[in-house]
Amino acid sequence: MNLPNLKIGNLIAKLPIIQGGMGIGVSLSKLASAVANEGGIGIISGAQTGFKEKNFRTDNDKANVNGIIKEIRKARKLSPDGILGINILKASNNYFELVKTAVKEKIDLIISGAGLPIELPSFVKNTETNIIPIISSGRAAKLITKVWKRRYDYLPDAIIVEGKKAGGHLGFKRKNLDNNLIKSLKEIVKDVIDTINPFEKKYNTKIPIIAAGGIYSGEDVRKFFKIGVSGVQMATRFVGTEECDADIKFKEAYVNAKKEDICFIKSPVGMPGKVIKNHFVEQFQGSNLNRIDRCYKCLKECNPKTALFCITDALIKAVNGDTENGLIFIGDNGYKINKISTVKEIFQDIKRSFNLKKEKVSSIF
Ligand SMILES: Cc1cc2nc3c(=O)[nH]c(=O)nc-3n(C[C@H](O)[C@H](O)[C@H](O)COP(=O)(O)O)c2cc1C
Repeated sequence: MNLPNLKIGNLIAKLPIIQGGMGIGVSLSKLASAVANEGGIGIISGAQTGFKEKNFRTDNDKANVNGIIKEIRKARKLSPDGILGINILKASNNYFELVKTAVKEKIDLIISGAGLPIELPSFVKNTETNIIPIISSGRAAKLITKVWKRRYDYLPDAIIVEGKKAGGHLGFKRKNLDNNLIKSLKEIVKDVIDTINPFEKKYNTKIPIIAAGGIYSGEDVRKFFKIGVSGVQMATRFVGTEECDADIKFKEAYVNAKKEDICFIKSPVGMPGKVIKNHFVEQFQGSNLNRIDRCYKCLKECNPKTALFCITDALIKAVNGDTENGLIFIGDNGYKINKISTVKEIFQDIKRSFNLKKEKVSSIF
């Protein structure tokens, strides 16, 4: 069996692989367009996308709107026929403005997590933009689908199910992660499929389910197809590419990371964040010191008086190459990356290993 294509609304991607949005600045126009050109779906990060703008510190909202416009236009120029999306965190303070900007720029799809994007359909009705929530349980999948249908007569164009092996912020409580109380991604995906099935039957439609978190090889992709997903979202593996928009030192931190270097930090977003242990992370272990001297008012949930650090500053430092004093998000399988390759090579490897029997899979990376 070859990798099937992925149909989302009016779009058909040749390959059923979405490159997950990575903020701040890790997936911008370069990575997203490279993925789209290979037949996958490329996602620009909508988290503080204006961080290179001159007015970023003085007029954060405006800088981010400009950043989004620039990155979408650049990506479209680099991939005129590819499928391009943007990831916008529901937890962002200027969420609605960012969404409106992306829709105005005719982005193909908006992916939204870190909170339930309840109001999202009101911004895309009668437009070409598709919308995809990220959820981490069958319950959340049911809630968003029910509310969108009831309030807006809209069903999700697809649903991303993100499990505990994903990188960055996770939608699970830290104590449940530490006590191993979280179901496997496979189990959550099955719950979501069972939950969504009655909606598909009732409204005679297909809602593609996309699995995310820890998917690395073609064999992993095949395992999820076997349980009924229509596609996968992968992020961590794409950091190890020439096209990834982060500084080379950020990518090298991945290449050098060992399994035991991957840990959690309490993020000001109010969720656990999965990161590479470095000097920055060690400073906060066992410390309650507040080190925020400037606030961008970027996140609804962050209280600069009590948060331990400014996540915007920490992520920007890292993406710009200060990998000891910044925060480096990573997924569980990041330690498997041992060299920097290209997006094309990653797709070739996934296509090859998708068709191999378990015992024959030996990734070339
Ligand atoms: C460096 C990095 C940054 C990320 N930033 C975001 C983000 O801004 N918004 C979001 O919804 N998910 C973010 N994620 C999660 C990914 O989009 C993706 O769903 C998840 O990492 C998939 O698991 P994988 O990394 O094991 O492939 C990030 C992941 C990484 C590794």
